[in-house]
Amino acid sequence: MTPALARSEVLQWLREENETRLDELWRLADDVRRRHVGDEVHLRGLIELSNHCERRCAYCGLRSENRSLQRYRLTREEVLDSVSQAVALGYGSVVLQAGEDSGIAAEWLADLLRRVKGETPLAVTLSLGERADEELVLWRDAGADRYLLRFETCDEALYEQIHPARPDRPGGRKAMLKRLKALGYETGSGVMIGIPGQTYADLADSLEAFRELDLDMIGVGPYLPHPNTPLGRQVESLQAPPGEQAPNTELMGYKLVALTRIVCPDTNIPSATALATLNQRDGRQLGLARGVNVVMPNLTPPKYRQLHEIYPAKACNFETPGAFDSHLRQSLAAMGRRVGTGRGDSPKRRAALAD
Ligand code: 5AD
Ligand code: SF4
Repeated sequence: MTPALARSEVLQWLREENETRLDELWRLADDVRRRHVGDEVHLRGLIELSNHCERRCAYCGLRSENRSLQRYRLTREEVLDSVSQAVALGYGSVVLQAGEDSGIAAEWLADLLRRVKGETPLAVTLSLGERADEELVLWRDAGADRYLLRFETCDEALYEQIHPARPDRPGGRKAMLKRLKALGYETGSGVMIGIPGQTYADLADSLEAFRELDLDMIGVGPYLPHPNTPLGRQVESLQAPPGEQAPNTELMGYKLVALTRIVCPDTNIPSATALATLNQRDGRQLGLARGVNVVMPNLTPPKYRQLHEIYPAKACNFETPGAFDSHLRQSLAAMGRRVGTGRGDSPKRRAALAD
């Protein structure tokens, strides 16, 4: 039995600072993780297709108005090289991620998807922002398996302030997640933690929304200010009521990972790059010990890596994907975990098929 958590308990954990009591939360989350998704850690190769973005999210370094960022878009050959590395390293899937970039033409990507799906056993996840319905249908037909789109916060007023709307695409991100699900995509979402103006109650609402949306993947990570963004420059512009502001700390990151695991036990939960950035030494291991069961090694060609600067100093300490891979495998083994085999499909779907 998975311990269900009442909203009051969730709020209590979110405010808990006592280390001994928090050990209880970590133990609970690790226990639920082991019983529901086992010791396997699924590896997904992250390929950052492009850092162009047409949106103006107030928190993100890729926003169109950040003129100091040098922009890139991978060629088809560069993507296929990264895909080959994923196959060579034995990964079960790749994640194709970019800003909202209409320069990634729908047909171009559909061709690429058909090629990857025809020539490799990989599952393919897309993370390309809010795209038109016809494009989502086209890519699904071309073989895309999964789609990631974080809804960031449940507080609609805060969301509107930090994520200026796209008038041609009304309906919001939760509506798009439902459409993705209806199209047969495994769907992933998540939130940032500690956005200026975000309350503890909003994080409790987000955990509830994770459950309601019945997500296959959930990514959560602390908000990290970027100096070339409006939110990174003027934190004081958005303020939660006194005592209600959720902190954007490493500790809050682990709490959200642990609570997500307890609330949504059969979900794939990736290790957040933001946590590995805040604690380069053992952020990843601590996440893995507190609910995480997915790691996404970066396979973007090295010359573009530093340009995908959503926030400053994204963790990336290894010379080659192979070097990171050996390090990761060793540290997983030391934790008594093993690398997952196969595509690492949604545990929820596997459970449904077995019924
Ligand atoms: N700090 C942390 N996470 C961020 N993201 C965007 N900007 C930041 C930031 N400054 C996250 C958002 C987005 C994902 C691609 O990266 O959650 O959905
Ligand atoms: Fe673009 Fe996504 Fe960054 Fe918003 S969060 S500016 S949509 S890359």
